[in-house]
Amino acid sequence: VTLNSFQTSGNSPGLSRCRVGLLGFGTVGAVLARRLTASDFLLPLQLTHICDRRAREKRGRQPDVLANLVWTDRFDDLLTSDTDIIIEAVSATEPAFEHIRAALLSGKSIVTVNKQVVAHHGPGLMSLAERQGRQFRYEGAVGGAMPIVRVLGDGMAGERVRAIDAILSGSSNAVLSRMDEAACSMDDAVAEACAHGYSDADPSADLDGLDAATKLAILCGVGFRLKVLPAQIDTRGTSHLRPENFRAAKLRAGTIRQVAHADYDRERGVLTAWVAPIFVPGTSVFGGMTGPQNAAIIAGEYAGDIVVTGQGAGADATAVAAIGDLVAIARDRAAIVPAPIFKEPKTIVGLADDKIAEAV
Ligand SMILES: NC(=O)c1ccc[n+]([C@@H]2O[C@H](COP(=O)([O-])OP(=O)(O)OC[C@H]3O[C@@H](n4cnc5c(N)ncnc54)[C@H](OP(=O)(O)O)[C@@H]3O)[C@@H](O)[C@H]2O)c1
Repeated sequence: VTLNSFQTSGNSPGLSRCRVGLLGFGTVGAVLARRLTASDFLLPLQLTHICDRRAREKRGRQPDVLANLVWTDRFDDLLTSDTDIIIEAVSATEPAFEHIRAALLSGKSIVTVNKQVVAHHGPGLMSLAERQGRQFRYEGAVGGAMPIVRVLGDGMAGERVRAIDAILSGSSNAVLSRMDEAACSMDDAVAEACAHGYSDADPSADLDGLDAATKLAILCGVGFRLKVLPAQIDTRGTSHLRPENFRAAKLRAGTIRQVAHADYDRERGVLTAWVAPIFVPGTSVFGGMTGPQNAAIIAGEYAGDIVVTGQGAGADATAVAAIGDLVAIARDRAAIVPAPIFKEPKTIVGLADDKIAEAV
């Protein structure tokens, strides 16, 4: 294996392994732990600690390769450990936010997959990370394996982003595309999405659009440098949809997808942002997204449209994004990532009247 691309810069010695601690051994955390300790895992990342509120119980069910790591239910043990990076995969805003803050203050870099933490506390955590000379990365919080944060934040840094249109909830897309294909009820489509691990047992946050609104709020930060809270986004649910809505869309050569939209008029300071189930032509990018796929079309002033797609739900897909973030940190641990200067939009408006006609 050639590890040269991981040579570190600044005052860190080259080729050293990054020691990683995991906070939260749930669905995503368990997949991450298994991937990082797999015998064919060749990246210079070493998982050494697992912190979970039920550490004792969960450790007892693991194979030796995992059970032999340091397990603890005390977050302080992670803080005082010799880990360089902590991956946070907890399903609650608290205590995750306080733990991330404490970890940055004690000199750790952070990778999180927790969209709630990023949407509500991202700007503050990014500034703190910069002040501490550490990194805060969150690719897995939006779009599963679809690398939207990297594309929008780094790849399009030279672009003036005008608008973002996206399918951001893999669970909702799995449910809606299943209703379309199988002409089945929403309950049946939800049961199938759950069976594939694309949806929580309680899919209401996905179907209500809150999950997509949370991710859209994060993307408004990345693409427009705007501080927007999920609650400020006009969010319309999908749970009223019936098989007949899909039949009607088919007659118009299309289907229904939960779409998130944001565009920003910089001169007037007006952000338009909404999430709604809308009619999309069958031949469009969104019409072609089935199962847990996510897609984003980013319209820029200089380069036109850039399209990114990828699997947007499931622990495997999310782990791919999180490991990508770990690698980015390991490659250059001393890098200072300047926190964006966020502004608040003067006005936030929702779905315009002409668009309401397209909402189903
Ligand atoms: N699943 C996905 O496909 C997916 C995709 C992208 C991002 N994410 C994000 O990944 C994170 C984890 O999701 P998941 O699917 O792995 O959830 P999960 O299976 O429910 O696991 C959540 C983990 O967080 C722990 N936890 C929950 N509330 C806690 C609290 N108040 N204090 C301490 N620990 C707490 C849980 O402990 P217990 O086991 O004791 O409850 C568990 O270890 C979430 O932020 C989610 O939004 C998930």
